[in-house]
Amino acid sequence: MAPPGIVTTDQFLQTAKYRRSVYALKSTSPVSDERIEQVVQEILSFAPSSYNTQPVRITLVLCDKHAELFDEIIAAAQPFLTQVLLWERTTTLAESGQAHPSAAHMFGQWSDHAHGMAHLLTWSALALEGLAGSLQHHNAMPPVEAAMKRYAGVPDEYSLKANLVFGEEAQAHPVGPPPKLAFGETLKVLK
Ligand SMILES: Cc1cc2nc3c(=O)[nH]c(=O)nc-3n(C[C@H](O)[C@H](O)[C@H](O)COP(=O)(O)O)c2cc1C
Repeated sequence: MAPPGIVTTDQFLQTAKYRRSVYALKSTSPVSDERIEQVVQEILSFAPSSYNTQPVRITLVLCDKHAELFDEIIAAAQPFLTQVLLWERTTTLAESGQAHPSAAHMFGQWSDHAHGMAHLLTWSALALEGLAGSLQHHNAMPPVEAAMKRYAGVPDEYSLKANLVFGEEAQAHPVGPPPKLAFGETLKVLK
């Protein structure tokens, strides 16, 4: 049984399933900047990481700031309102390796895992606030990442892992997930 005041497993899964990649966005938000910041803070307050090493750093780009950001990068504003830039503090990986030498070779991979968890939590939570969006990787273009780092004023030791872009939906919310492989392919149960 779920602890009092906590949703059931089925409610949790249905809620998680509501998150979709939504690309047609408006430059408006149904929630305040303060609420978005509160949601992101809440996620940072409990999201897990290996040995609790916490390699995730976030820059929240709100309102007209996103237009400034994209003016800087591609000289064209994009139709979305909010960006969550998710950085890896690379020094954390080195420090973690020194603190736990037998696992030093794993901290890069574990940082990726911790980032995936933070990404999904942020994406899902903001979807419930009525902010749809998608997961983007402008770090795939090194000059773009360099421009984003300059814009955000983050230390050199930060490496962009992904950016989530959000706005109100300018399309119908996708009904369900895209087709998935059969469980026969993706799941094996041993008992
Ligand atoms: C690790 C990961 C990386 C992704 N990178 C991108 C990306 O760079 N650009 C993009 O448009 N979508 C990206 N996506 C979104 C996927 O294409 C999308 O999640 C998938 O097609 C399933 O659709 P759904 O998000 O509606 O469930 C990424 C998703 C994941 C999990």
